[in-house]
Amino acid sequence: MDTLVIEGGKKLSGSIQVGGAKNAALPILFAAILTGGRCRLTNVPDLADIDTTVRLLTGMGVTGTHRRAEHTVELQAARLSNFEASYDLVRTMRASVLVLGPTLARFGEARVSLPGGCSIGARPVNLHLMALEKMGAQITLEGGYINAKASRLRGADITFDQISVGATENSLMAASLASGRTILRNCALEPEIIDLARFLKVLGAKIQGEGTPVITIEGVDALGGGDYSIIPDRIEAGTYLAAAAVTGGEIHLPGVSPELLGAVLDKLRECGAELAADSKGIRLSATGRQLKAVDISTLPFPGFPTDMQAQFMALMAATSGTSIITENIFENRFMHVAELMRLGADITVQGATAIVRGPAKLTGATVMATDLRASACLVLAGLAAEGITTVRRVYHLDRGYEKMETKLKACGATINRQVE
Ligand code: EPZ
Repeated sequence: MDTLVIEGGKKLSGSIQVGGAKNAALPILFAAILTGGRCRLTNVPDLADIDTTVRLLTGMGVTGTHRRAEHTVELQAARLSNFEASYDLVRTMRASVLVLGPTLARFGEARVSLPGGCSIGARPVNLHLMALEKMGAQITLEGGYINAKASRLRGADITFDQISVGATENSLMAASLASGRTILRNCALEPEIIDLARFLKVLGAKIQGEGTPVITIEGVDALGGGDYSIIPDRIEAGTYLAAAAVTGGEIHLPGVSPELLGAVLDKLRECGAELAADSKGIRLSATGRQLKAVDISTLPFPGFPTDMQAQFMALMAATSGTSIITENIFENRFMHVAELMRLGADITVQGATAIVRGPAKLTGATVMATDLRASACLVLAGLAAEGITTVRRVYHLDRGYEKMETKLKACGATINRQVE
């Protein structure tokens, strides 16, 4: 298991090219199951989760070519050899549950392992199953697997009683091939939903309302192939903005539109960072600026993203003042707190709230990553800490960040990967 060794205290300065959005690429790769046509996807980030997805799809009989260095994936699901997403894959990447909607819609059957929990929460899929049953799927759960059958899904009027990115995506994909009209209400508004809908429209799907709470889909009998380029990763972008802020440095992110990061940019401005954002990209400077603590409360888009909570906590730990951080999306997304405290952070957790008192004098230590965004949080804290910080189990980090150490090193950080 690789580790990252960081010598803190260096101010970041430079420009980072943000990659394609992991959380747009994953549903879009699964959506290729909906068509027998060839799909050519570009600006696909070179990440472990992408590898896992391509492996899962080719294991089902999809022909696939993954050119990692070119950030391109070509897929063609002319036919499938099986309709199953097995436990050993689903437990490593719960987004595998997105096999369900497209496979059921196109082939009439699917067998997908229940994701089980992960370190940030129980991660139920009841909303996914509710929507598919409303479209006429017969679903049984046995042996830890979801068994779904449907001769042909039919359009339905579906209201989610809780906003869910994944349930919106599974339902959107399934409805594209259902007979008749589907109306999805209380949908997630994330930019990745809009990207998925745009890709489905390239394939010939009839969708309106993506990015609003109500999405209407007129099902079609078949979809064609198509080419598509993935939007930039707003969480990767936010992570590097926080890295520049916590080191008192500056950074330029070309090609990232500010609309992707509204709430994050607002909070960075509120704590005193200088931000300039236009159609060309985003610039942040914290050089010579005395940042102050701010409160955050995670919410569905366009609120402050839960996927930025851990990274922001690292920033608040090193910033003067008290920050109240409330995690409203996942029930256990404070796994990074104990590790941050090993670096000297002063944090008290009370249920869904963490009270962060800063500025803490962060000093280097050996810490352990527990999940994707917790790993990023520990790297950011290591950049600010005095001395050497060793972050273990960075396979978590590699799930969502392409070559993070290379990008940070290019901006002046002292950070090296040790392959163990
Ligand atoms: C997506 O997960 C993202 N993953 C997550 O990013 C992100 O944190 C999350 O959305 C919220 O923005 C991908 O897109 C691959 P949800 P997802 O369904 O779809 C509950 C990262 O770091 N819920 O919006 O699984 C659920 O337990 C990852 O890149 C149900 O109760 O999230 C959670 O509390 C981590 N029943 C809340 O809803 C359901 O059927 C939001 O979950 C589905 C979800």
